[in-house]
Amino acid sequence: MAITAPRGTRDILPGESWKWNYIINTASETMKDFGFREIHLPIFEHTELFSRGVGETTDIVEKEMYTFIDRGERSITLRPEATAGVMRSAIENNLCVQNSIAKLWNWGPMFRYERPQKGRYRQFYQIDAECLGVQNPFADVEIISLSIEIFRRLGLKNLEVVINSVGCEKCRPIYREKLLNYFDAHKNELCETCLTRLDRNPLRILDCKKEACSKVADGAPDIYDSLCDECREHFEEVKKGLERLNFTYKLNKRLVRGLDYYTKTAYEILSGDLGAQNAVAGGGRYDNLSTAIGGNKIPGVGFACGIDRIMLVMEQQNCSFGEVPKTDVYVAALDNEAKGAAQSLTYELRKNKISAECDISGKSFKAQMKNAGSCNFACIIGSEEIAKNSVSVKNLSDGTQVNIPISEAVEYINHQV
Ligand code: HAM
Repeated sequence: MAITAPRGTRDILPGESWKWNYIINTASETMKDFGFREIHLPIFEHTELFSRGVGETTDIVEKEMYTFIDRGERSITLRPEATAGVMRSAIENNLCVQNSIAKLWNWGPMFRYERPQKGRYRQFYQIDAECLGVQNPFADVEIISLSIEIFRRLGLKNLEVVINSVGCEKCRPIYREKLLNYFDAHKNELCETCLTRLDRNPLRILDCKKEACSKVADGAPDIYDSLCDECREHFEEVKKGLERLNFTYKLNKRLVRGLDYYTKTAYEILSGDLGAQNAVAGGGRYDNLSTAIGGNKIPGVGFACGIDRIMLVMEQQNCSFGEVPKTDVYVAALDNEAKGAAQSLTYELRKNKISAECDISGKSFKAQMKNAGSCNFACIIGSEEIAKNSVSVKNLSDGTQVNIPISEAVEYINHQV
């Protein structure tokens, strides 16, 4: 039996890859316009980075990581997300010393052992941006506006920005205690997963999708009543900043997100066109991540968006992916003797950055001209042309044809394309 791709992975085939590039190029240009610089990190890291960074009690660390012992007896994990790696790198490479700011972005594959469904894969791709070294709420607004701008440029419609504050190390323990007492009194109404969350991570019960748990959570203590002055002020400033930029957003006091490093701001961008897996982006502030992984205190705020999901929404909404890539010139050989000359001319065009193709499989002239159909020009070479050192250039959109010296082919075509 032929081997197939592992469950939860998919191939990005040529029919899709150019659209994929359009998304990444658009993100890349937007990042540049916002002053973010590209960083590339290993796809695998020490397991400890994620267990300490993302959090021992998260679904990601408890059940979704691809972890293995390598040949040197080290525990290694395929990255389930990028933020912990970016922070590790910033600490290791001193990217954020003496109050300096590092605005970094990257894109690439992430790995989570989740149940595959539409918009949810085991290998998926994220575009990720992190702003390190700034405590100020302006940085939160910078990140949220960056994510919104990428989606605006891609032409995504029908999106909703949802924000919340999850407090900090000072006020969250008080809120946690209140939640624990509340949920403890409603123990018999909770699902099994939430019962296990009760002691370990009661905040996660707030965003359980099960109806019964959601009903209990409706009556849970309000996080806004527990926020300390600093978190409250920070949240107000973030909201004001978003309003200044004319963004509409919704508050959701039950948005806690599945990663434990968040402090203060947490947000998501949801699409009405995705079904159950409706988040195209998620992010927030993580002021304690650096110390959790053994570094000095470096505040941070960032977001990541799922390329696979952006693609689904763009297809659904008939968004433009720019122009379909096309080869400029097809060099066709009239007979077998001309095949070598055709390949030489093709290479000459390519050296001059004119995209060109020729037959490499022994096709007839007729079949070659059929292949030329998707190009702008055909260069035709036969024994007669070789003898005269010439080439016929046919404009495939209007059918006109000229015969020119082969030495002038590059210049002639350069003028036309
Ligand atoms: P996250 O919410 O886990 O956050 O993931 C961000 C985005 O990645 C999601 O909104 C979704 O679009 C996409 N995504 C996540 N899991 C999958 C999956 N299994 N299949 C397809 N797409 C998926 C983070 O990863 C944080 N590191 C974001 C962040 C950056 N926070 C601060 N800085």
